[in-house]
Amino acid sequence: MDSVRLVEMGPRDGLQNEPVQVPTHIKIELVERLADCGLTHIEAASFVSPKWVPQMADGSEVLTAIRRRQGVIYSALTPNVKGLEAALAAGADEVAVFTAASESFCRKNINCSVAQSLERFTPVLQLAHEHGLRVRGYVSTVLGCPYEGDITPAAVARVAGALYRLGCDEISLGDTIGTGTPKKAIAMLSAVRQEVPLARLAAHFHDTYGQALANLYAVLEQGLRIIDSSVAGLGGCPYAKGATGNVASEDVVYLLHGLGLETGVNLDRLVHTGRWISRRLGRVNGAKTGLAWHPN
Ligand code: HMG
Ligand code: MG
Repeated sequence: MDSVRLVEMGPRDGLQNEPVQVPTHIKIELVERLADCGLTHIEAASFVSPKWVPQMADGSEVLTAIRRRQGVIYSALTPNVKGLEAALAAGADEVAVFTAASESFCRKNINCSVAQSLERFTPVLQLAHEHGLRVRGYVSTVLGCPYEGDITPAAVARVAGALYRLGCDEISLGDTIGTGTPKKAIAMLSAVRQEVPLARLAAHFHDTYGQALANLYAVLEQGLRIIDSSVAGLGGCPYAKGATGNVASEDVVYLLHGLGLETGVNLDRLVHTGRWISRRLGRVNGAKTGLAWHPN
C-alpha cells in the first residue's frame, strides 16, 4: 500500500514559541509518547542560541534522557557548527539546517543573508556526513513572507536547489506563516521539483489561515510523500508574528488514513497524546480530530 512518512514537529517547532518554560521532563515524556504512537521521525530538539530561543535551551538534556525506541529517528535543528557539535554530543540521529526563500525572513531568523547561510551550512553538512548523519534542509517562507509578502516559485526553487546541491538529503518546504493556498502550493512544488527529486521533498505547512490540509492534499496529489506536522497543532514561529502551529498531526493522520495512505501511526494513541500535552500546556487542542475523536 502507498504510504506517507510523517516527521513529527511537536517537541521542536511545537514548543519553541511557548511563552512559559516547559519543564524538561514534560518535553522528554512528549517525545517518548510520540514514539509510542508509531511515529518514526521526531524532531526532538534545537541547538540554537539560548538567547534567541530560550525555550529550546535544554535540547541536550532532552536528547540524552529520552528512552529511545528502535527504528525511530530523533533529530535536531543545527544552524551552525556549534549547534552540530552539541547535537552530536547529545546523540542526535539526524540534523537540520534552515534558511529561507526570503532575505528579510532569513535575517530575522538566523541573522545573516541567504547566501551567508549557505556558506555557514557547508561545514555543518561536511561534519554531519562524516559522522554518518543525514541532514535535512529547511526552506522557510515558501508560500509567503511576513516581511516581503509574495514569494515566487522560482525563488523557492533556487534556494531548495542550492541546499540539495550542497548535500542536504531531504528538503522541507515551509509555509512558515500559513498563507498559501492549493494552487500556489502546486506552482511552488512544480518549480522546486525541477531542482530536487520529488522523493526528497517534504511539506511543512503551518495552519494559520486554515489552509494546511487543503495544501497538503494538493501536494499529495502531485506525488509528495513526506509531511511535517505537530501533535495538537502546537507551535508558532518566534520570527513570524501571528503564525500558528504546524498542521495538526492528528488531522493529517485522519486525512491520510481516509485516503488509504499508510502512516504506521496509531491515531487513538496520538489523540491521547495531543490531549495530554494540551492539558499540560494549558492550551486549547489545535487538532480538530483531537477534539472530535471517540475510539470505536
Ligand atoms: P548570531 O548572533 O548571528 O551568531 O546568531 P553568533 O555566531 O555571532 O553567536 C552569538 C551568540 O550565540 C554567541 O554567544 C554564540 O556562542 C551563541 P555569546 O558569545 O553572545 O554568549 N551561539 C550559540 N549558542 C548555542 N547554540 C548555537 C549557537 N550559535 C551561536 N548553535 C544564530 C546566529 C543562528 C545562532 C541565531 O540567529 C539563532 O540561534 N537563531 C535561532 C533561530 C531559530 O531557532 N528559529 C526558529 C527555528 S526555524 C523555524 O521554526 C522554521 C521552520 O520550522 C520551517 C518553517 O516553518 O518555515 C524550520
Ligand atoms: Mg515551522
